[in-house]
Amino acid sequence: MLCSGKGTTVLTLYRAQCLGCCWKQGMTIRWRSSVTLFRAEGSESEDVKPFADIPGPKGPPYFGTYFQYKLGGININKMPETLKQWHKQYGGIVKETLLGHTIVHVFDPEAIRIIYANEDKWPRIEPMAQTTQMYREKSGMSPGLGNTNDEEWYRLRSAVQQLMMRPKGVAPLLPAVDPVALEFVAHLKHLRDHSNQVPDFATELGRWSLESSGKNCFDTRLGYLSGEGQREAVDMVEASHTVFDLTTQLGVSLPLHKYFSTPKWNQLTKAEDVLYKTLQKQLTAALERLREKMDSGKLGENEFLFLRYLMSREELSVNDVATLTLSLFTDGLPTTTPQLLFLLYLLASNPTVQDRAYHEVSSVAPHHPAPLTAQSVSNMTYIRACIKESVRMMSMVNEISRITKKDMALGGYHIPAGTPVHLNNPALYRHPDFFEQPDTFLPERWLRDWSGEKPNPFILLPFGHGPRMCAGETAVL
Ligand code: HEM
Repeated sequence: MLCSGKGTTVLTLYRAQCLGCCWKQGMTIRWRSSVTLFRAEGSESEDVKPFADIPGPKGPPYFGTYFQYKLGGININKMPETLKQWHKQYGGIVKETLLGHTIVHVFDPEAIRIIYANEDKWPRIEPMAQTTQMYREKSGMSPGLGNTNDEEWYRLRSAVQQLMMRPKGVAPLLPAVDPVALEFVAHLKHLRDHSNQVPDFATELGRWSLESSGKNCFDTRLGYLSGEGQREAVDMVEASHTVFDLTTQLGVSLPLHKYFSTPKWNQLTKAEDVLYKTLQKQLTAALERLREKMDSGKLGENEFLFLRYLMSREELSVNDVATLTLSLFTDGLPTTTPQLLFLLYLLASNPTVQDRAYHEVSSVAPHHPAPLTAQSVSNMTYIRACIKESVRMMSMVNEISRITKKDMALGGYHIPAGTPVHLNNPALYRHPDFFEQPDTFLPERWLRDWSGEKPNPFILLPFGHGPRMCAGETAVL
């Protein structure tokens, strides 16, 4: 069976693997159980070029791009620009070696579609944060979702799937976080200076993120916005920045920290300690409150939903519960917080869009500040389009990692099983080949009645795709 989709010829495929083209063209596909082989359109298998021929930045054997990172040729803080440059210079499939580790950067939407289409139920990734994985191993902690693979990952993921990934799962959490948002708005009004600006707005957003997720995780108000927890909140925000920063730096450094306590490793350990010790303190107190409520028969139906759910899962150890709670508590800091900052910035600089967004909120939730409901949130289609468009304009994610499990041909090159690939969708987010008016903040392009060209569905995937996609996606959107 041959399926000819955009840019690719696909031989012997599973029905579920042909994600778009055949379905759209109304073609029938036979079910097959054989291994899938993909070929670049118009090429026979012998035309597929060897892995060694994939172009990319050059460097000395083993070290590869290392000296460019260290001597200034590549600025790690400006990776989005570097990736766009590599795409322009080398094409859709680019190979990079760094300290003996070779990865393939994928910029071709068809190749991205093929990689996702080939996933089984346990997609493999490189650890999201290798240093955090090391810290957790050394501290005897559970590694957490983003740092595991195979059976171990599946065990953890299936345990949280029901709670995190279904709208019904997160809807009961809405009444808990809505008052936090209202308090945050009041808090901002109070913080405005004489020029109507909020100093260090990013940290304020971080405090809001922690206060919100703290309510979900521990069923209490931590006082991170204006109460007695303010210092703790700022320490957490700073620690999260440090972890993020050093993880990035150590990712392009000689791995001395794996063998010695280097100054950067010590600094990172201290920051991880701040996060973990705060988690331990809050978790212990929450479990104590939960136990008291249960003992006194006063536990309400909607109280301690998150902890009760995790504690009820037999397959999770206490260590697993702690790491999963840490993830829910702090993952919003390097993700939701900057993304919300970008959204607010774009709304502030585009008053027409801001007006339309405001009118939607006013009409969908006219009784503000009456609590928002899951229904009213799901009716906010324009706000959702604004969120999507803000990710397209300013993304805090550079790539999504996968390790291929099968040999395949991508963009005309042979990619052996076991190759680490980076799906670099964000490098395409402002590419004129894929978006009209690429530099304009235009949420309308995501609305159903948009008459312009529909964006390719395999480009804007801010939360990833498939079984391994972001576990916080339903909570964010
Ligand atoms: C704007 C906010 C966010 C964005 C853009 C984002 C993006 C992502 C992306 C791209 C991935 C990798 C997906 C893949 O490999 O296919 C991911 C994974 C993950 N995210 Fe998020 N994320 C956000 C917020 C959150 C929040 C708030 C949480 C926690 C509540 C969270 C928890 C996770 C976890 C646990 C994983 C690992 C999933 C796994 O490996 O099974 N994320 N996220």
